[in-house]
Amino acid sequence: MHVHIEILTFLDCQILLLMVLCLCHMQYLSGFGNECASEDPRCPGALPEGQNNPQVCPYNLYAEQLSGSAFTCPRSTNKRSWLYRILPSVSHKPFESIDQGHVTHNWDEVDPDPNQLRWKPFEIPKASQRKVDFVSGLHTLCGAGDIRSNNGLAVHIFLCNTSMGNRCFYNSDGDFLIVPQQGKLLIYTEFGKMLVQPNEICVIQRGMRFSVDVFEETRGYILEVYGVHFELPDLGPIGANGLANPRDFLIPVAWYEDRQMPSGYTVINKYQGKLFAAKQGISPFNVVAWHGNYTPYKYNLENFMVINSVAFDHADPSIFTVLTAKSVRPGVAIADFVIFPPRWGVADKTFRPPYYHRNCMSEFMGLIKGHYEAKEGGFLPGGGSLHSPMTPHGPDADCFEKASRAKLAPERVADGTMAFMFESSLSMAVTKWGLKTSNCLDENYYKCWEPLKSHFTPDSRNPAGPD
Ligand SMILES: [Fe+2]
Repeated sequence: MHVHIEILTFLDCQILLLMVLCLCHMQYLSGFGNECASEDPRCPGALPEGQNNPQVCPYNLYAEQLSGSAFTCPRSTNKRSWLYRILPSVSHKPFESIDQGHVTHNWDEVDPDPNQLRWKPFEIPKASQRKVDFVSGLHTLCGAGDIRSNNGLAVHIFLCNTSMGNRCFYNSDGDFLIVPQQGKLLIYTEFGKMLVQPNEICVIQRGMRFSVDVFEETRGYILEVYGVHFELPDLGPIGANGLANPRDFLIPVAWYEDRQMPSGYTVINKYQGKLFAAKQGISPFNVVAWHGNYTPYKYNLENFMVINSVAFDHADPSIFTVLTAKSVRPGVAIADFVIFPPRWGVADKTFRPPYYHRNCMSEFMGLIKGHYEAKEGGFLPGGGSLHSPMTPHGPDADCFEKASRAKLAPERVADGTMAFMFESSLSMAVTKWGLKTSNCLDENYYKCWEPLKSHFTPDSRNPAGPD
């Protein structure tokens, strides 16, 4: 028995070493929205030269175009890629409806609730009790709009403990911006593999097939947008550089497996908000080469170049926008992905935490790690909050008292912390899972503002200075 355990341990070490070597050698192309070309090095010359669709492709591959925009979109927004694969995606049995789990696009499940909402960390099921993969672990928390008219968004929480194995997923409804919070994701895509760790994000665009391996109990957030793609925000007077720089976005390189699956590989599709599954006889990751500008990509939030006030007052949090999914109204987003990274706070004569406000936008916030400055307790990694249009919010009473008296020396803000916001111009509804089934809603959230007291001094205009 003792020997047996030693052998197992040795084998485990070898597997672990191989895995570590694989993960360390992940390769990427770089640049946001670039025209890229990639061939699996096992098949040099797999990309046809000078044309997209030759009569016979190199290595007898099939050519397949994946369109991410209308054919006639202007060049600046036109997105498509050409995939050269062992079998075309159409080689599958018919799709059939499967259990929806907690995925929904029904925004009328429960009555609207204008209150400030906050969730404790969403619970991840234990692998020893129930095996849950990335897709069966999707839970829709809130959202708005209409999938069929390509206008809207959803916020999902993923809670999983098992790799997808011989299952992949693709979304006919929109793009997924995935924010892992606990546990890394090894994501197989038709374009190659990406390792996405907490404090990194990735975007899997509409139609792209992917499968997620996880290595522990894993949790994260997803922003889904319908009918639009994420773009880098315009920089205006900031100039040519800053915020998320295009070169820091990483794209996988071509990688294929020629894996025949007599028992069937399962392709799961989210279509008009419902889940369907079909079997096929080969792994979908059979793309030997590809070229184009419609790809998955990832980004490390540490690379965000922060702009901030160096005199007094606050710039609006739009300065922290990483990616935006624009609506047809100029300057108004279906959703912005905004982060609050580590930075210096140096503003003079200023109340430095976020100001009290009411916003015409919906603000969903999550915390990847650390402590958010405006709420020291209660808003925890893996939890969330939703402040709906015109719902007032701001620092809790303790934060107000401390910040009003703090000595305004330059100070580090948010070291070891990464909070983020999905901000939308749409008024989001919360799902039944969000309000009830998850059992994570913090019923006492409103109490953090109850100790706020009046400091009004009608006889004295000049307030007392810092202690
Ligand atoms: Fe806010």
